[in-house]
Amino acid sequence: MRKRLRTVWRSSPVAPEESPWWQTAVVYQVYIRSFADGNGDGVGDIAGLRARLPYLARLGVDAMWINPWYPSPMADAGYDVADYRDIEPAYGTLEDARALIAEAHALGIRVILDIVPNHTSDQHAWFRAALAGESGARRRYHFLAGRGADGELPPNDWQSVFGGPAWTRVDRGPLEGQWYLHLFAPGQPDLNWENDEVRAEFEDILAFWFDRGVDGFRIDVAHGLVKAAGLPDGAGVDAEPHTLLQVQGRHPAWDQDGVHDIYRGWRAVADRYAPERIFIAEAWVSSNARLARYLRPDELHTAFQFDFLRTPWRAQMLREVIDDAIDSAASVGAPPTWVLSNHDVTRTVTRFSRSQPAHLIETDWERGRWEDERPDHALGRRRARAAALVQLALPGTAYVYQGEELGLEEVEDLPDEARQDPTWVQSGFTDVGRDGCRIPLPWTETSVPYGFAAHPAAVTWLPQPEHWAEHSVEAQERDPGSTLNLYRSALELRPTMWRDTGDVKWLEVASDIAAFERGGAQCWVNTGDAGVPLPAGAAVVLASEPGVDGMLPPDTAVWLR
Ligand code: NOJ
Repeated sequence: MRKRLRTVWRSSPVAPEESPWWQTAVVYQVYIRSFADGNGDGVGDIAGLRARLPYLARLGVDAMWINPWYPSPMADAGYDVADYRDIEPAYGTLEDARALIAEAHALGIRVILDIVPNHTSDQHAWFRAALAGESGARRRYHFLAGRGADGELPPNDWQSVFGGPAWTRVDRGPLEGQWYLHLFAPGQPDLNWENDEVRAEFEDILAFWFDRGVDGFRIDVAHGLVKAAGLPDGAGVDAEPHTLLQVQGRHPAWDQDGVHDIYRGWRAVADRYAPERIFIAEAWVSSNARLARYLRPDELHTAFQFDFLRTPWRAQMLREVIDDAIDSAASVGAPPTWVLSNHDVTRTVTRFSRSQPAHLIETDWERGRWEDERPDHALGRRRARAAALVQLALPGTAYVYQGEELGLEEVEDLPDEARQDPTWVQSGFTDVGRDGCRIPLPWTETSVPYGFAAHPAAVTWLPQPEHWAEHSVEAQERDPGSTLNLYRSALELRPTMWRDTGDVKWLEVASDIAAFERGGAQCWVNTGDAGVPLPAGAAVVLASEPGVDGMLPPDTAVWLR
């Protein structure tokens, strides 16, 4: 017998009718290199994206966030920007961007760009000017003398997120012998945000794109811009080589209080525009309480809350991270955000394809490889579908990373010679990095490249698996039970079924069940291995598996009325 012991209410600040779009939006993440290729060179581009806009409209998303599309030498897949006011030639032109924004808006899809303010490319005019010894140019970056008798040691002990020291020594020219800081790849020198020219430049870049109708920005490494004064050693906080997603504690490179002043300035720029322009922070900080500081009323609008994407498949842990996300966002009057995956982490299907020990949240979740277990993709896909129904029933903003709606798995067996992520090289070939979640999408039920590229003989920039025809958009459109059709149904129902005040009322059922009610609708998910009876009289409006009636099977979620 199902027991209802007690209910607990969580309140969210999202007001029902009049809430702005970004407080409840479903945002689709377009990883442009891998979305659709319009010119047949094997690399996704704006032409490909324009041609597929009807697909996004049919899916039912409110906005899309496009990963960096600026000119770039691609030392880190475009997160090394050479010119913030132009388009990477492999992706198109400013005119293509203009047309894309207009067409997306005509379909009711808002456009969010990715701004990369922590670092530029080493090919950016500013860094070249610095290396050439131009007066004032070096002060836009962090150039320092080294330690040791001949300055042969880096200025401090900071490690690059991708592996190895966060410093590279200049080997020629006017700055020969100096070291420059790069928290990521050597081709991504960190900007010095104590320099007023840097601040003015980025406010101008924001205005450049806002003037072109862009609706907002996702801010890359939003917690990294300001470093502790004097760039002190991490003093053991960070003695271990760290990973992109490690909780970065109170290291002097991250989450310094001075960063908030920058975002107050950015908010003032955005607030000059109508309709509203918005910001989303990518900030890997030590707690949701620290994250909430970025969301104070005169700062950013939302921030990714990443605990959801590293929580093992366990009902009680899901409950805890959901409560924490809602409560901490509410403490500053912001909506929570829900992310199951993105271009930096193992795809959801694969993350859920292996056993789910409770300690996973602290350890190995990032790359999804643990205990040398073989992945069970059918199980992972089943759980990922259930997780999507939980995500889309929660109050706030939900992000869908391209391919998630197709139930794609991580490609874990890429040949080493195909790998592109700088993590692979910088980790000394010990960390395979993020290429496995960035594989070009399969559109048609053919063979490689599955309609990804305009030309059937195109060689995609990362190879696609041999068996992906079955996961293609074309195959899934025909199958009523496909993951694509599940997402379409969920997004169609979401605005009416979950449009209430956003309060989450937990129902106490059993330890393997997370079940909540919002405004007369309920969402139930079963993370255990036994079926559980559903409430008598409740109608199943949507289920993550076919044929659910009366009982909720393992690894399944339902929306009830
Ligand atoms: C976070 C981005 O999501 C990631 O892909 C990138 O490598 C780093 N920031 C550095 O820009």
